[in-house]
Amino acid sequence: MSATLVQKMTEFTNTNLETLYSAEQIKTRVAELGKQIAFDYADKDLVVIGVLKGSCVFLADLIRQIDLPLAIDFMAVSSYKDGTKSTGDVEILKDASQPIRGKDVIVVEDIVDTGLTLFRLLEILGSRGASSIKIAALLDKPEPRIKKELKIDYCGFQIPNKFVVGYGLDVAGRYRNLPFIGVVKNPHIA
Ligand code: IMP
Ligand code: MG
Repeated sequence: MSATLVQKMTEFTNTNLETLYSAEQIKTRVAELGKQIAFDYADKDLVVIGVLKGSCVFLADLIRQIDLPLAIDFMAVSSYKDGTKSTGDVEILKDASQPIRGKDVIVVEDIVDTGLTLFRLLEILGSRGASSIKIAALLDKPEPRIKKELKIDYCGFQIPNKFVVGYGLDVAGRYRNLPFIGVVKNPHIA
């Protein structure tokens, strides 16, 4: 990374971000979720499906806290374009590579906002003969969920209706690599 990009990132972090959860707090919570999942899935055939791109950091940490044999897969969907507003439309950009018939699936998401993305994804996965499908989401914004009711089986943190970045979450494609989660004060200068 060039000095200019490092400077840009530092400046953004210092001026436009308020830490919501530190790397340490996230680590502790992810370990708790992993332990719970390992307990619940002890005799199951677990497949963890990450929703790209936002879930990649959470998934990488979570699976290492699940002390069980498991498989991973990925799907990519687009629900947000470059801004901070939901378009309402969900497009499958990349499908999972393995069948899930007879498997116990956990879909891993970074954040549930309106719930539209996961709701649609569950409709699609629901027709593929899995034994069970559950949801793990690092963050849940319960407040703006006007459209869809979803049961989040494993939730990291419930957060206020603010736009956040870091630990996989982006604004306009950036800041996924921040090790903590921060509230963006002004998304327009991201
Ligand atoms: P939903 O369909 O409204 O639930 O939107 C879920 C998707 O929107 C997430 O997977 C994220 O990609 C994105 N998203 C929603 N809220 C935020 C946020 O605060 N920061 C970054 N991305 C977000
Ligand atoms: Mg996402």
